Amino acid sequence: MGLLGVGWMGRLHTTSYRRVRDHYPDLAVRPRFVVAADEVADRAATATGALGYERFTTDWRDVVADPGVDVVSITAPNHLHREMALASAAAGKPFWGEKPLGRGPSETAAIAAAAEAAGIVTTVGFNYRHAPAIVHARELIAAGELGDITSVRSTFLADYASSPGGGLTWRFTRAMGGMGVLGDLMSHAVDLVACLVGPVETVTAQGATFIAERPRIPMGATHFAVVEGGEAAPVENEDYTAALVRFVGGARGTLEASRVAVGPHARYSVEVHGSRGALAWDFQRLNELRLSLPGGPLGSGYATVFAGPGHGDFARFQPSMGIGMGYDDLKVVEAHGFLASVADGRQRQPGVAEARAMAEVLAAMERSFDSGAWEPVRPVAPDGEP
Ligand SMILES: NC(=O)c1ccc[n+]([C@@H]2O[C@H](COP(=O)([O-])OP(=O)(O)OC[C@H]3O[C@@H](n4cnc5c(N)ncnc54)[C@H](O)[C@@H]3O)[C@@H](O)[C@H]2O)c1
Repeated sequence: MGLLGVGWMGRLHTTSYRRVRDHYPDLAVRPRFVVAADEVADRAATATGALGYERFTTDWRDVVADPGVDVVSITAPNHLHREMALASAAAGKPFWGEKPLGRGPSETAAIAAAAEAAGIVTTVGFNYRHAPAIVHARELIAAGELGDITSVRSTFLADYASSPGGGLTWRFTRAMGGMGVLGDLMSHAVDLVACLVGPVETVTAQGATFIAERPRIPMGATHFAVVEGGEAAPVENEDYTAALVRFVGGARGTLEASRVAVGPHARYSVEVHGSRGALAWDFQRLNELRLSLPGGPLGSGYATVFAGPGHGDFARFQPSMGIGMGYDDLKVVEAHGFLASVADGRQRQPGVAEARAMAEVLAAMERSFDSGAWEPVRPVAPDGEP
């Protein structure tokens, strides 16, 4: 495999590929780490050390063109996703791409269309889907255990940019990040609720930028970096968004995402209410699902169920309930799904189709920022054009 971007996600994709052989020994595919690219030479050079790549380069096109590379991981900033994905598709090389897959909906749609036209399998980094508690939640909802779904809420509240000294990384510019918290965190929320209760039909949303400028910081610096002093430059995209949503199935709900929330570090939560039951999950308690089902031990109240063998891929990681999985494990599940698709040619979820559907919801939210109105989510035609 070849790696495009040796940052946080680039390193995590690599370690996840490596761990697939430990957790899924039955999968016949064994990744070989051929070449990694980063435009920051020092970063690129780290790839041949502990990360285990045979070579490194500062030009990502060398990776895609390399005849020894069969598949690529797209883990560079958002402004490069489109070009990288289109080049991979043109070379017939399947890719595992990070969300949001482009700077905005039109780029996501172009990526999806190119991948589908090329007939390659894809995986997109909506890792929260793979939490065993979420897999269990999805099964309960699909089996009708909650009855008719009435309301849904998700909050993705992060504090990574809550300090005004938080550096102006690529995430805060239109040219490189594209959308702000919409693409960064709301993308996860929209995908999570879609995977649990189905597509969103219409939205009304507001966005705000609370920290108008930040100190410049060089490419390659982590978005958790706080800088003393430094030249200030404007933040060009939204820090915060909140939306009212209506689902195709009739449920109503609220979605909220912030990158400047003081208090919660990473409260990625979802709660689903039905006519008979309810469930709630929070990333900070990844292995727990709170459930209220008819006849449950607390009547109509919530009881906590711990993820365990029998829930998603839990048994691949831990032998029994109460022994927790972590964030990185979700990426191993994702890496396995991608390699399994490469091996058997079967497209699994989430791939580019789910990313494109998610992006149309973000587009409707962004339109609503300006119009102040309810905005329908544009249906995606089979050929990929909205
Ligand atoms: N799924 C998740 O939970 C999750 C979490 C974090 C980030 N992401 C996504 O992953 C992607 C990367 O985010 P990150 O946090 O790893 O960012 P990062 O800044 O840590 O890493 C990005 C890397 O890409 C490199 N890069 C920049 N220009 C390049 C070029 N022209 N060619 C090759 N490399 C280049 C940078 O130098 C840096 O090393 C983003 O799209 C982001 O939205 C997903």
